[in-house]
Amino acid sequence: MILLEKNIYFCGEKHPERSIFDQLIPLPQGTTYNSYLVIGSEKTALIDTMYPPLIDRLMKTLESNHVESIDYIVANHGEQDHSGALPTLLEKFPNAVIVTNPKCKELLMAEHHIAEEKFQVISDRETLSLGDKTLEFYFTPWVHWPDTMFTLVKEDKVLFTCDFLGAHHTDGELFADYSKELETSAKRYYAEIMMPYRTFCKKYVALIDEIAPKTICPSHGPIYKDPKFIMDLYRKWVSDEVEKKVVIPYVSMYNSSYEMAKRLNDRLQKAGIETVLADLVHTDEGEVAMELVDAGAVVLACSMVLAGPHPKAVYVAYLMNLIKPKMKYFSILGSYGWGGRLTETIDSLIPMVKAEKLDYIVVKGKPTSDDLDKVDKLADELIEKMNAL
Ligand code: FEO
Repeated sequence: MILLEKNIYFCGEKHPERSIFDQLIPLPQGTTYNSYLVIGSEKTALIDTMYPPLIDRLMKTLESNHVESIDYIVANHGEQDHSGALPTLLEKFPNAVIVTNPKCKELLMAEHHIAEEKFQVISDRETLSLGDKTLEFYFTPWVHWPDTMFTLVKEDKVLFTCDFLGAHHTDGELFADYSKELETSAKRYYAEIMMPYRTFCKKYVALIDEIAPKTICPSHGPIYKDPKFIMDLYRKWVSDEVEKKVVIPYVSMYNSSYEMAKRLNDRLQKAGIETVLADLVHTDEGEVAMELVDAGAVVLACSMVLAGPHPKAVYVAYLMNLIKPKMKYFSILGSYGWGGRLTETIDSLIPMVKAEKLDYIVVKGKPTSDDLDKVDKLADELIEKMNAL
C-alpha cells in the first residue's frame, strides 16, 4: 500500500497487459484499478475495489499490510472493474457493510447477488464518521453510469471521483507527472467514456470547484496532487468551444473516396486549418474519438460496399452518435459503382449528432474534375466557417 495522506492509502493495481475495455475500447497502455483505504480513529473504509481477474492481488495487498478489519466498503460505482471484489471482501470481512447510493445498490445486488442487509444506503451529501475522519458523499449520476458518486474525506480534502477524471494510463508513477502523454491518455479516456455525458461533466466540474479538493483520486490512472491540470483540461473539453480543426475519417477501396478526402485535407491545410486525415483501416477508433473531442467539423469519406456505406464508416458513424461530439459541421464524401444508399444510411445512424450538415458529395466511380471542384467548394466553405469560430 502506498501512503497518500495521513492514514489514507492507495491499494490498487496496474493492469498494463489489458488490451481492451468493455470489449470495445482499445487500451494502448492497459489501465489501473485504484482502490483506497481510509483508516479513521474508529472505523476503516475501503473505497472501491477491484476488477475480477485481479481480486487476488487486492486481497494479498490487504493481507500483507495487516489490514485485519474493514467496517465500510464504499462503492462509488457498480461497474465490475471497481466492484468485482465485493463478494470476496465480504467473505473475508463478514462484518463489513457496503456503503452506497440506492441506484448503485440495485446494480450491485443484480450483478453480485449480495444480500440486502449488507448495504448501508446513503443520501446525497450525507456524511459518515470514521472517528477522526469524515466521509461525505456526492451523487454524480452519469459519469459513468446512473449510479456514480464521489466520496470526499473532509478533513484531508481528498476526493475520490471513481471513473470521472480518470485515464487509462499505466506509464509513469502513481502521482500525475502532468506530462503531454498523460494529457493524451486523459483526453482519449474523456472521449470514449465521458464525452457522451458532457452536460453532466460540466456540472461536476463546477461541483469539484465548489468542493475545492486538495487531491483528486480517480479510479483509473494517476492521482492528482495538483488538481488544476486535469480540471483545466476538463474545463476546455466540456465547454461549447471547438478548435479550427476538421477531422476526415476515411475508408476507400479503390482510392476514389481517398482522392476526395485528400483534396479536401490539402486545401484546408493550405488555408491554415488543422486537419486529421484518419485511415479507418489502420487507425484505432479511440484515436478518432479523441480527435472528435474538440473538432470543429467532421467530414466522413467512404466507399460503398454492396448497396450501403463501407462497414468501417458505418462503425464510425454509429460511434459518433454514441459519444456525441460537439462539432459544429458535418459532411460526407463518397463514391459508388452502380448505386445504393450511402448518405441516407449514414444519416440514419447519427440522429444525436447536432452539427449543421453541409452539402454531401457522392460521385460515381472516380471523381471527375467537376467533382473535385465541388470538393474545393466544400473546403472553402469549411475554411470560412472554421475561421468564423
Ligand atoms: Fe471504471 Fe465505469 O468503470
